[in-house]
Formats: sequence, C-alpha cells, structure tokens
Amino acid sequence: MEIIIVKDTIEGGKKAFELIKAGMDQGAKVLGLATGSTPISLYHEMIKSDVDFSDMTALNLDEYVGLAPTDPQSYRYFMEEQLFSKKPFKETFVPNGKAKDAEQECERYDQIIEKHPIDIQILGIGSNAHIGFNEPGTSFDLTTHKVELLPSTIEANKRFFDHAEDVPRLAYSMGIKSIMKSEKIILMAYGETKAEAIKKAIEGPITQEVPASILQKHENVIIIVDEAAAKLIKR
Ligand code: F6R
Repeated sequence: MEIIIVKDTIEGGKKAFELIKAGMDQGAKVLGLATGSTPISLYHEMIKSDVDFSDMTALNLDEYVGLAPTDPQSYRYFMEEQLFSKKPFKETFVPNGKAKDAEQECERYDQIIEKHPIDIQILGIGSNAHIGFNEPGTSFDLTTHKVELLPSTIEANKRFFDHAEDVPRLAYSMGIKSIMKSEKIILMAYGETKAEAIKKAIEGPITQEVPASILQKHENVIIIVDEAAAKLIKR
C-alpha cells in the first residue's frame, strides 16, 4: 500500500489524474469510477485536460435502487453531469436503478465487469469504511448485489437530498470480490470525518466489519489522503 498525503482535494485530484494518465500510457482501457464528493476534483482534472478518453470504458461502482438515470439524485445523472457529458468515453456503465428484477440486474452487471476487467479502480471511502456500497459486515466474497444501506450511510448521504427520508434505502453495489480483481486501486479520502475509517483500513485487522481493510491484501493500492484524513495513521 502506498500512501500519498496531499494538501487538499485539488492536489489529490491532480495526483490521482497523474496516476490515471500513467496507467493509460501503459495501456489501461477500463476505469472503475465512484460518485460522491471525493472524486469531483479528479473529474475536474480529467475534464480540463486534453487527454482523450474516447477509447476508454468506464464502469461505476453503484446506483440507488428505484432512481431513473434522469433523476438528478441518481448516480448515472451525477456521472453525466460531473464527467461523461464533458469528457466522452467509448462506453459507460452504471447499474440500472430501475431494473425490474434485482437478481438479473446484478448478473447483468457482473457480466459487464467480466467483459471489461478493471485496470484502475477509483474509490472513495465512507466514514463507516464502506467501499462502493459494501457496508460493514458485507462478505468479501460478494460480486454485484443489492444492499440495504446502513443508517450511517443514509446520514452521510442526506446532504445530497432535501430530506433524510428521501435517501433511497436500497442500492446496487459492485462487490468487494470484483473490486479486488482490479489491476490497480486508487482510494481517495479527504477531511477529518474519514480519519477513523482510514486508520482502520490501513492499520487495523482485516475484517468484514471494516470493508476497506481488505485493500491491505491487494498488491497495487494507492491511498491519497489529506492531512485531516491522515491524522490518525502512524507516520
Ligand atoms: C460512491 C461510493 C461510496 C463513496 C463514499 C464516500 O460511488 O461508492 O463508497 O465513495 O460513500 O462518499 P463521499 O466522497 O461523498 O464522501
């Protein structure tokens, strides 16, 4: 695990972008992407660069169950707004929140991941140490699955909604088994609310109660953190 401490989210986004460019120079063709506040500075860097992504495939980690791609709260909408509409990719995939059959949707998404093995996976981390929407207690052996979001996640994500009651209770998430198959993983975390999760993920025991702790077993992980998120880790 390599840990890079940056000044702020802007510098973190630049660092992550450099790593992506280096990966693309070495032939990376598939990016695993995340939503939320954390990757926004990275997406800004991608948009303002002259790097061409039109030969790249993007696969997102998760989507709320029940939200259509046209719903401004959906992760598909977020990705279109923040990146895809401004930086064209060859193809982009996000689980379908409106799928009629959850089991079939999970299978469909797993097949997509299998067809497009992820070269570089971008991750944020929840303050409860979730990655994707793999909440504490989730088996490390799962592939795409339907998740019941924990109250801590609903609390953290309510800032994107008018009312906490509006946050969907269910989501589809890529599983940890698939995340771990990525060639390289870049996890970013900014701010004090992530400090505890980062400490446990990097220094704590590997346990399903701390989903991000599994990353200690991956051979090619880079963690980009600001001082606040790094404040509890040993230097
Ligand atoms: C989002 C995702 C989540 C977020 C995490 C951090 O696609 O998979 O794991 O990365 O909840 O969210 P932010 O960046 O909003 O703090």
